[in-house]
Amino acid sequence: MTTQLEEDFSFKQRKNTRTMLIKGIEEALNNQILLESESSQTYLAMACWAETNGFDGTSGFMYAHSDEERGHMLKIVKYINERGSRAIIPELPQPKDDYKTLLEVFENLLEHEVAVTNSINELVFKTLEAKDYTTHNFLQWYVSEQTEEEALARSILDKLKMIGNDKGGMYLFDRDVESIQVTSAASLQAK
Ligand code: FEO
Repeated sequence: MTTQLEEDFSFKQRKNTRTMLIKGIEEALNNQILLESESSQTYLAMACWAETNGFDGTSGFMYAHSDEERGHMLKIVKYINERGSRAIIPELPQPKDDYKTLLEVFENLLEHEVAVTNSINELVFKTLEAKDYTTHNFLQWYVSEQTEEEALARSILDKLKMIGNDKGGMYLFDRDVESIQVTSAASLQAK
């Protein structure tokens, strides 16, 4: 029969065997939290620019995209905490909030997404180096998500380039862009 002392000791031992993330992986995940938070803030600033320049549809798209990026950030926060570490909530620089054209807005969005993709790929590589297959598996959702987000940004840019300075075309673009689903199939699977 076990004594209370033995039970307490065994409980403490169980607590101490919680899997902790490898330091380098934890740092890289925290860096990804920073990038996803910056994405959310950047798209929020784009939403404000669009809303105050008569592009209501684009602002709706950007508000939704900003929320989506906050979701990406929260997923990593929860993952780090669940793995026995603690996520670091970062200080953020003020995002760019002035643009000359709608084309510039979406060019910036694509640039931003490409940078996020590169960072995710680097992170995936680190998990393989560290043999952290759990985090590697967790990151596969982000790999799919980035493929979809880049493809979406490129197709929007193609449309804008086709429209050029045609005001009627721009009006229709802005009306329709809000209905584009930012929430991808990958996001739905994760819910
Ligand atoms: Fe979560 Fe679009 O980067």
